[in-house]
Amino acid sequence: MAVPAEIAARARQLREQLELHNIRYYVLDRPLISDAEYDRLFRELQELESRYPSLLTPDSPTQRVGAAPLEAFRQVSHRVPMLSLNNAFSDEEAAAFDRRVREGLETAEPVEYAVEPKFDGLAVSLSYREGRFVTGATRGDGATGEDVTLNLRTVRAIPLRLTRPVSLEARGEVLMLKADFEALNRRQRDKGEKEFANPRNAAAGSLRQLDSRITAQRRLAFFAYGMAEPIPEAGRRHSEQLDYLAGLGLPVAPERRVVRGVAGLLDYYRSIGARRDELPYQVDGVVYKVNELALQERLGYVARAPRFAVAYKFAPEEAVTRVAAIEVQVGRTGALTPVARLEPVFVGGVTVTNATLHNEDEVRRKDVRVGDTVVVRRAGDVIPEVVRVLAERRSQDAVAFAMPKACPVCGSAVVRGKDEAVSRCGAGLYCPAQRKQAILHFVSRRAMDIDGIGEKLVDQLVDQGMVANPADLYRLTVPVLARLERMGEKSAANAVAAIEASKHTTLDRFIYALGIRNVGEATAKDLARYFGDLGSLMAADADSLEQVPEVGPVVARCVADFFAQPHNREVIDSLLAQGIAWPPVVPERPIGALAGKNFVLTGTLPHLSREQAKALIESRGGKVVASVSGKTAYVVAGADPGGKYDKARERGVIILDEAGLLKLVE
Ligand code: IVH
Repeated sequence: MAVPAEIAARARQLREQLELHNIRYYVLDRPLISDAEYDRLFRELQELESRYPSLLTPDSPTQRVGAAPLEAFRQVSHRVPMLSLNNAFSDEEAAAFDRRVREGLETAEPVEYAVEPKFDGLAVSLSYREGRFVTGATRGDGATGEDVTLNLRTVRAIPLRLTRPVSLEARGEVLMLKADFEALNRRQRDKGEKEFANPRNAAAGSLRQLDSRITAQRRLAFFAYGMAEPIPEAGRRHSEQLDYLAGLGLPVAPERRVVRGVAGLLDYYRSIGARRDELPYQVDGVVYKVNELALQERLGYVARAPRFAVAYKFAPEEAVTRVAAIEVQVGRTGALTPVARLEPVFVGGVTVTNATLHNEDEVRRKDVRVGDTVVVRRAGDVIPEVVRVLAERRSQDAVAFAMPKACPVCGSAVVRGKDEAVSRCGAGLYCPAQRKQAILHFVSRRAMDIDGIGEKLVDQLVDQGMVANPADLYRLTVPVLARLERMGEKSAANAVAAIEASKHTTLDRFIYALGIRNVGEATAKDLARYFGDLGSLMAADADSLEQVPEVGPVVARCVADFFAQPHNREVIDSLLAQGIAWPPVVPERPIGALAGKNFVLTGTLPHLSREQAKALIESRGGKVVASVSGKTAYVVAGADPGGKYDKARERGVIILDEAGLLKLVE
């Protein structure tokens, strides 16, 4: 049906008006019209679109209603990784951050910082192409997240169209306002459904819905805190980048400020802290970022967090309860963790029944005994912990804790290294607890992703001696599984199919699945990328492992030790013999004359900027690291070098000037 010109014009006008009112409401916090009036405009547009379907555009405000449920979320790799922040927990630590920044920049002047609330929600990345919202993804592991575009399209605070046709990737936090959270829980209660523990969980539960129609019914908010890559025309400062995003219609925190020096940082922490309860959303601290983008770049990153930013967290919530028992848990690496079983208590938005006591020394230092009244604390999503004992309320029969001499699960000797705080069951995979944990890790979603093998099943498989290591999983058959408790033919068949399907994997998943101590997903990816094949990784010694970008001495040692154990090699051989395979990986290894050499830069070079010097070294395969150690090959020093220069001299490291570097590179 042909659309009359005036109708098409009216639809366009309505779309623009609704988008504008969204911005007035979510970005500027100054609505021009009432909710009822907004609804009237909205319905008028809906009617026009249903009468003339050709009017309907994907970025119409009416399209925020959700779509049919998905089977699963698609994985998306982030073009620019989504990093995390280092934390500070005291004024001293915040001041130490500022000191490190000034040392890194080799300046004594107060530094300018952009400061913002730390939103307690979920990080997302929003891609806009020529002003249109095209994809949105969760953070995931920072390298790969989940495609939640359909869900994000239902969030009214997220513009489907920017005010100008620019292409960019905004990053920010999806959250639920406190008032919307209360209302949601009231509705859940009325319907007799489960209430959410806190706004963060409610936001997460709403965003990770395969059925976006459910997301559409939840009121989610969004605040941008940056971009994947800054846009030069937006300005040379982070604060200007955020102003630019606001100008495009993306909400940014009204509480953001620019301050100078450590006094400015601490003042801001106190002012947000004082207003914390009044803010419409939950914050768990404040974030400090060096404002000048050029200085941010100079400071760079350590591991997966920027050196130019830090999160100063608020003190977590505390509550008082009683210790009913102290038990010992055996982890995947054999670490024995004393855990306090508590009388249930509500703290930090959830009911807590267990709290970690970390290790033997901690229990002794805090002198926690069974029967004691204690203060417990829970911060964000971390495991609750016992802060201190209320000694004045201790009763006569309180029982002190002693670390068992034998593993509570397998009875093997408990060992504690000379300089180590952790006691371990030394039995490795012969200990059923460790075996179970290792297998659960192996099958987990981000490892081999074997669905249908949960804790209960692994317990039975290990206890009945059917599975001793991950390779044994591949020998399981349907009739054998079907005989187990709570397993029918169907679930047995599903489990076997999932095991079979897992044989097609990727090298990085396989490395991660092995459960090497200190090797998380991101490190597994780094190792896979660098070595390209398993054989070379298994053959590498600690020194060559340290050449992998992002791998430091501790991780290198763990990896080398793991592959040195004959038992681990046997399990790997038998996994490969079962047909586990992955697509070939082309190794991305630094090549060139400087491969294997670590450099440290300090001071200002006469011609090269720091980035240029770094790029030059890397182009020849060298690695630029932050501080001088025994592994440093060269220190490149310019004018006004910092402490790194002195350290290099003390250690007898070769010191080059710019000319020396250029000669070396040639
Ligand atoms: S900046 C390079 N700013 O905190 C990292 N993050 O602990 C860029 N977060 O994953 C992050 N509020 O999800 C930044 N104002 C804020 C933030 C913020 C909350 C989250 C973010 C990040 C996590 C790191």
